[in-house]
Amino acid sequence: LAIFPDRTNSRGLNMNIEGIRVPFFKALDKLAGKSWQGGPIVGGKTLTTGTANAVLSPQNNGHQVGQVHFADKATVELAVGKAQAAFGGWRNTPVDVRAQALEKLADLLEEHQDEFISLCTREAGKLLQDGIDEVREAVDFCRYYANEARVLMEPKKLPGYTGELNLLFAQGRGPFVCISPWNFPLAIFLGQISAALATGNTVLAKPAEQTSLIAHLAVTLAHKAGIPADVLQLLPGDGATVGATLTADPRIAGVCFTGSTDTAMLINQTLAKRKGAIIPLIAETGGQNAMIVDSTALPEQVVRDVVRAAFQSAGQRCSALRVLYLQDDIAERVLGILKGAMNELSVADPALWSTDVGPVIDQDAQSGLEAHLSRMQAEGKNIIAQTSLGKGCDQGFYIQPTALEIGAIGELEKEQFGPILHVVRFKAKDIDQVIKDINNTGYGLTLGIHSRNESFAEYVAQSIDAGNAYINRDQIGAMVGVQPFGGQGLSGTGPKAGGPHYLTRFITEKTITNNT
Ligand code: SER
Repeated sequence: LAIFPDRTNSRGLNMNIEGIRVPFFKALDKLAGKSWQGGPIVGGKTLTTGTANAVLSPQNNGHQVGQVHFADKATVELAVGKAQAAFGGWRNTPVDVRAQALEKLADLLEEHQDEFISLCTREAGKLLQDGIDEVREAVDFCRYYANEARVLMEPKKLPGYTGELNLLFAQGRGPFVCISPWNFPLAIFLGQISAALATGNTVLAKPAEQTSLIAHLAVTLAHKAGIPADVLQLLPGDGATVGATLTADPRIAGVCFTGSTDTAMLINQTLAKRKGAIIPLIAETGGQNAMIVDSTALPEQVVRDVVRAAFQSAGQRCSALRVLYLQDDIAERVLGILKGAMNELSVADPALWSTDVGPVIDQDAQSGLEAHLSRMQAEGKNIIAQTSLGKGCDQGFYIQPTALEIGAIGELEKEQFGPILHVVRFKAKDIDQVIKDINNTGYGLTLGIHSRNESFAEYVAQSIDAGNAYINRDQIGAMVGVQPFGGQGLSGTGPKAGGPHYLTRFITEKTITNNT
């Protein structure tokens, strides 16, 4: 096995320490009423053209977090021109200077973590712990890609005939479009951007429209950290205007996208039709993630991991568990404990430390998940457990965490991006059919396995087409540089975020042969 060099990720906030906890909550109280302003950042200036959109909290629709101006087509085109003009200078900036700016950004993120955590809770409806983890992951991405770039961008001397010098150079491709999702509004947003910047590309960042304020603060800090104004520009807005204009522009040199499989396919078509160079699309998309539990597993451990994987972040992670396969001999025992655990979950305001499950992101998400639950009930599916909503949930976009029984994964048409767990019982003799059914979905993101039979666990991990397989633990929360993350098939193009090969898709190579 090849061993990668030792490195450490950031620590986050340890809330068991009073000296950290008390000032943290004081800071959050102060920020709770702050009204945030956001908009496109083009040429280093925040623009206030077009109409302002009120940003309402997913947890309480009466609570306005701030307002944001969305970019129009002309603003997008202006930004692409500036990104193109700035490219040569940024490409030729020494990699160490670019890396140092990203490291400075990581420090600034830590300095401003209270603001980000407050915004994660208020704008994105994330739990406090999720907000803490979000900042950590963003910090880790900036530092990790800064270091990876130092290695990758170093010119390589190759062997050749006597008198001939062969050098291989890696360089940025040009203006890179980074389109990121609302479920990791800081970590994935900056993960994409830091990878593109470290490798010498200029960036046009289109955040999810639901989390434009977090993106605005992040880009402001990036400029403060030394990323030049035209090298990183922010274009908040909807996919139909900003995303479509950006991806159709012949001047762009690459697209990095995280979001739904359908949108990735649309981007792929737009890129194929546009006039201009053939450029890379790095896509991280959806999943239909399963966990397989055989009869040797420890039921309490299974339930702990199932609850975390299915319901943490209100199930709004692409890695989240959607279909739990339980071997019939152990099913009743596991489901009995699961019911008890789901009864104990607190579904409430994400700004409370005691909350386990917060809201889903918006009304569309809520209605889609409710429609799925109604369909399942109309089909006569057995509801195993359903957690009650806590106080105040009627003010926001909440969904009751639900576990229900289905016959097989193939009954599900598409990914349900929320706190809904589907359970399938299987017999040991049918394991190969289970593996086939899971592979037949075409997705391949995460896989969980619980078993104390090592050869069984190994067999399942090797047989299922998943980008990230986890044995005897939950299947969420991949760590930068530790569990490089990303799927295959309908789940994404690779390479894996937070892994040693990620940056290679952001560069182009040049060989110079000099017959000295
Ligand atoms: N990287 C996240 C996780 O592993 C999902 O995007 O949970």
